[in-house]
Amino acid sequence: MADKTATLNLGGKDIDLPILTPTKGPDCLDIRKLYAQGDVFTFDPGFTSTAACDSTITYIDGDKGELWYRGYPIEQLAAKSSYLEVCYLLLYGELPDAAQMADFDTRVTRHTMVHEQMHKFFSGFRRDAHPMATMVGVVGAMSAFYPDSTDINDPMQREIASIRLIAKLPTIAAMAYKYSVGQPFNYPDNELDYASNFLNMCFSVPAEKYKVDPALARAMDLIFTLHADHEQNASTSTVRLAGSSGANPFACIAAGIACLWGPAHGGANQAALEMLQEIGSVDRIPEYIGKAKDKDDPFRLMGFGHRVYKNFDPRAKVMKETADEVLGILGIEKNETLKVAKELERIALEDDYFVEKKLYPNVDFYSGIILSAMGFPTSMFTPIFALSRTVGWISQWKEMIADPQGKIGRPRQLYVGADRRDYVEKSKR
Ligand code: SDX
Repeated sequence: MADKTATLNLGGKDIDLPILTPTKGPDCLDIRKLYAQGDVFTFDPGFTSTAACDSTITYIDGDKGELWYRGYPIEQLAAKSSYLEVCYLLLYGELPDAAQMADFDTRVTRHTMVHEQMHKFFSGFRRDAHPMATMVGVVGAMSAFYPDSTDINDPMQREIASIRLIAKLPTIAAMAYKYSVGQPFNYPDNELDYASNFLNMCFSVPAEKYKVDPALARAMDLIFTLHADHEQNASTSTVRLAGSSGANPFACIAAGIACLWGPAHGGANQAALEMLQEIGSVDRIPEYIGKAKDKDDPFRLMGFGHRVYKNFDPRAKVMKETADEVLGILGIEKNETLKVAKELERIALEDDYFVEKKLYPNVDFYSGIILSAMGFPTSMFTPIFALSRTVGWISQWKEMIADPQGKIGRPRQLYVGADRRDYVEKSKR
């Protein structure tokens, strides 16, 4: 991949850095030998200019607002595929034929139940625990319940762990929700498709069978697809770094869930809806736009801006269309929150501050409106993001583990602390 080089002159010494050429996107300066040859580090906190790995899974073009899973544009997958088919694509690299899809569907469906002891695991949490807290705990504990799929050096165990995680995350997320609202858990129903099964596990109660609306199930499935993977974002990088130490896949995914929880990342969908509800009405939008622009005010428009997208987040476009559809299905003609969201987007995109900083709505801006209309509390928004992203995390983890050149991730630092000094006796301080 290196047919060009860049030459760095360091104190009179020329160091040749190979230039790696990608399929798409910016070239990469290969600096792996820089410290050995030049005795210097590069400095890039936040990794704004750093490629941490090579990958064949997902491509994003932030300037064009493009997102491809294994080369297929997200708009086409959103319109024509299904989440489980996207799971197959992300995991194995190609779209499945009918037999492959049927086999994969059966394998996932047959792993949707969790170990019965896990039901007791939940009872250790307070009922008001955030569902993300229970998910981090329960998913991290999966290695204790499925020790036969923790050997990362066995491809078969890696495969089973991947299927188990994709299959069981919806069950665990639904259990986290049921536990938080004091309702009994529902078992998975293998007669239902992936999204319908999740909705049923969340909303069915013993006293009244939940009738899955196929149109809502389709919208749920679409939300899963839109969140499935996204290149080397913070939580995926967390999963890769945890995996590089040889940690078992369940521990790595739990680390990814923990990282996703932050409001700057996957927690933004909960924060965005809470922000829209706090704004409350269109006439209060200018006040919040002013707060977002005020350097001295830590307030940010949640669901706006992105490290990579400096154009529209293609997922936000699909999500915005879906919001209209879902509210229509539910007969919610007037939704003040959606009205505020659309007006906030319109005003922000005409404001120089947002235009200059290229801040557009991201995947988290509209998703909360849909999920709330479906009946989910805001505390379930990030768990739904986490269950959707599990296939992306595990696909990236598998890719990293299978890399023969793989090594433990271990960044260095720019040390700006105290120089060497001797211990000062207490009497002399
Ligand atoms: C996700 O990485 C991924 O791919 C993530 C994700 C995925 O699928 O995995 O896409 C999912 O996490 C989407 C992002 C969700 N987060 C939010 O919506 C939270 C609000 N957004 C911001 O916190 C921010 O935009 C980030 C964290 C998303 C991106 O931050 P960056 O790239 O580090 O940009 P920055 O903080 O350096 O901001 C650049 C400028 C700053 O102003 P200056 O210091 O240059 O004057 O833009 C401003 C920021 O103050 N800015 C905002 C803003 N976002 C950035 N100002 C107001 N409101 C905002 N939302």
